[in-house]
Order: sequence, then C-alpha cells, then structure tokens
Amino acid sequence: MDTYDLIDLALQRFTAKEVAMALGVDVRTVRRWHTRETEPKPYIADAIRQRLLPLGDPPTGPATFRFIDLFAGIGGIRIPFEKLGGRCVFTSEWDPYACKTYAANFHDGPDHMFAGDITKVYEEDVPDHDVLLAGFPCQPFSIAGVSKKNALGRPHGFADKTQGTLFFDVARIIAAKRPKAFLLENVKNLVGHDKGRTFSTIIDVLQNELGYKVHTKVINGKHFVPQHRERIIIVGFREEVPFDWDDLDLPPVEDGPKLRTILHSEDGSEPAEWQCLEGPKGRVSSKYTLSDKLWAYLQNYAMKHREKGNGFGFGLVTGNDVARTLSARYYKDGSEILVSRGPRRNPRRLTPRECARLMGYDDTFRIPVSDTRAYKQFGNSVVVPVIAAVADLMYPLLDRIGEPVPAEKKVA
Ligand SMILES: C[S@@+](CC[C@H](N)C(=O)[O-])C[C@H]1O[C@@H](n2cnc3c(N)ncnc32)[C@H](O)[C@@H]1O
Repeated sequence: MDTYDLIDLALQRFTAKEVAMALGVDVRTVRRWHTRETEPKPYIADAIRQRLLPLGDPPTGPATFRFIDLFAGIGGIRIPFEKLGGRCVFTSEWDPYACKTYAANFHDGPDHMFAGDITKVYEEDVPDHDVLLAGFPCQPFSIAGVSKKNALGRPHGFADKTQGTLFFDVARIIAAKRPKAFLLENVKNLVGHDKGRTFSTIIDVLQNELGYKVHTKVINGKHFVPQHRERIIIVGFREEVPFDWDDLDLPPVEDGPKLRTILHSEDGSEPAEWQCLEGPKGRVSSKYTLSDKLWAYLQNYAMKHREKGNGFGFGLVTGNDVARTLSARYYKDGSEILVSRGPRRNPRRLTPRECARLMGYDDTFRIPVSDTRAYKQFGNSVVVPVIAAVADLMYPLLDRIGEPVPAEKKVA
C-alpha cells in the first residue's frame, strides 16, 4: 500500500478532521492529499499506520475456516470466531455508526465483502463460507402471523412462513450456501414471543425446511461478566455431530465477577487519552454524574411505582453488585445501571469503556463514536465470552462435516 492508499483507508474509517488531528496537520491538507493535489511527506505513511491504522495487515494465507457476519453491529460475535483462526469473508451491517466502530476494530483483506442492507443482497452473491453468524434483530411482529397470512394457496416452505422478516434473509442464505454450521443469537423473549409460535416457526424452518441439526440454549452473561443478560443461542450443524450443551464451559454464577472488575480504577493507572477520564488520577469525568434534576426525577418515578406496588425503578449499584441488563436505551437516562457515589452524591452512569467491559470486550477495542452511539452499540451487542464459549464448542466439530453441498432449496 502506498501513502495515498493509506490516506484513503484512513478516510474510510475516520473523518478528515480526525485524520488531520491524529497527524497534526490541518483538514485542508488531508483533503488535498485525498484528491492527489499535493504529495504527503514520506513519514506520513508511518504516522498513519501507527496512529490511525495500527491493526496490522489484513489476514492473508489459508484460514482454518471461513465465516460470515450478518447483522454484525460492532462485531461482538465475530471476535471469538476470528480468534479461533476463522476468516471473515462477508459482513452485513447497515448502520453507519456501527460500521465506523466495526471498521476501526477489524481489518479485512481483498477477499472480504462488506454489504449494507441484507435484504438487498442476492444470496448467490454471498461468498461460500463454513459458518454463518447472525445476531438478527427481533422484529416487533409475529413470524407465525406472517405465516397465517401467506398460507392461502401458497406452497409450504420457509419463504411463506418468514418472508418479510429478517430471519427470512438468514434462512435464504443458509438455503443457498449450505454452511457447515451457524450460530444465531437473540433476546430471550424470542422464545416466548407470540405464545412461542415465532420461535417454533424459526426452529421448524431451520430443522425441517433447511435440514439442520439444531441446538438451543438460553445463556446468562453473568457467568462471565457482572451483568444479568439472558440471550437465546441457536446453533445448527448441517450434519449430525456430537454437540452437547453439557460440554459448555460456564464458570459458576456464584463465582462470577462483580462490578468492581469493570469500573474505572480512578488511581491514575488507566490510559490518560480516554476521554471519559479526567486529571492525573483518571477520575471519571463529571459529565457522567446525573444532574440534580434527572436524579430527582428518577427517584420520584421509582417512588410512585413503588406506591402502586410495581417493582420498576432505577438500578443503583456498587462495585460488589451484578448489573441489570444494559439496554440500547442506556444513553437516555442510564436508569438501569447507576453507579453509587455515596449517600450524599448523585450517582453516575457507566462510561462507554465500562459498558464495553460489561459486555466482555477487552480494553484494546476502539470506540470511535460519540458516547450516545457507543451506549447504543454496546447495549445491542453480545457478551463476547458467552459467544467464545459456544464457539469453542462448535469449532472442533467443523472438521467432521464435509464441504458444502449444492443448494437444494432455493427461494423462488
Ligand atoms: C442486535 S444488533 C446485533 C449486534 C451484534 N451482534 C454485535 O455484537 O454488535 C442487530 C444489528 O442489525 C443491524 N441491522 C438491522 N437491519 C439490518 C439490515 N436490513 N441489514 C443489515 N443490518 C441490519 C442493526 O443496525 C444492528 O446493528
């Protein structure tokens, strides 16, 4: 890659202003380099590699297995599969801010395709792969309902049952590409949604229409991180393999970590460039402390609900606790997880870096977006070590399955 290529790559991941700041030049200079009006000095290539793109070169050479990352978000499901030696060959994510975080953390080579809206991708254009990964969004309508509406005079099949849903897009790619295995992740509520009909339609399609051996389990993130977070994991294999949830390596919940393990140390030992910290001790910035108005509102709201006999309220925690589920709405008032700062001080929100840790991301994970975006992204994400435990169980079984067979079932 020459210096111009590096500039173009940096500008795909960062704004011109961010690139200019990192390189200590003004924005116009960056734009002139980009349009080839002026030539950058030779040291600029090194500066870009070190300050903006220190992700190493994209992977080359043979991979142990190939996978695709659908509804990728910020890549939480991808991390463990990549660590196992897998090569990501296709990613789909349409949110530009999630894409920004994704691009800042994963470096893909020329054999990788990035697509936006998956509903617009023709399944035959998806590269061949061994493992399909998808944390597909649970849509607020019933798949079984779609089925009833479409049933009249139409052939029986997953297209009829799930058309118009994002699960349909997962199913049609599985049908066309026949990967050895898949891992799908969703909220626990999917299991009970529409009296269980949505979930049973999904399992019926995977098992009976697509012919996969399917295994499901609700797993709580608190085995690995100090957060109660229950998610349904659906794993499928194209052939019969000795997959057994009993082999899943889940540390006992009683010994699970407490919040102190993810809170900032505030003793000066953390990187000073993190914008959420202030001063030589790296104290959490005061901007995360709740205003008097918001704190009074949350307390009043909780009191009113208590009087009515409802349990709803804010979640005030200390380092000895396990947090409630971090939601994508955390940016609004932070009410589900408020860190106590003693009886006479208003509590604070978690910082985005603490949210990253709460989801099991390590501190090398880059957060190149605003706090609001970061809260949404981590609230939507997976507990990475949960996926890692499942990936460890799946990985040795991949070799037992033959190469993909030609698609038998295509969507009309
Ligand atoms: C539940 S999140 C998945 C988060 C991901 N597992 C992670 O670890 O960050 C679902 C993602 O699907 C994306 N999405 C929703 N509809 C999409 C579509 N039609 N095409 C591509 N991405 C879509 C959303 O932007 C969101 O980031």
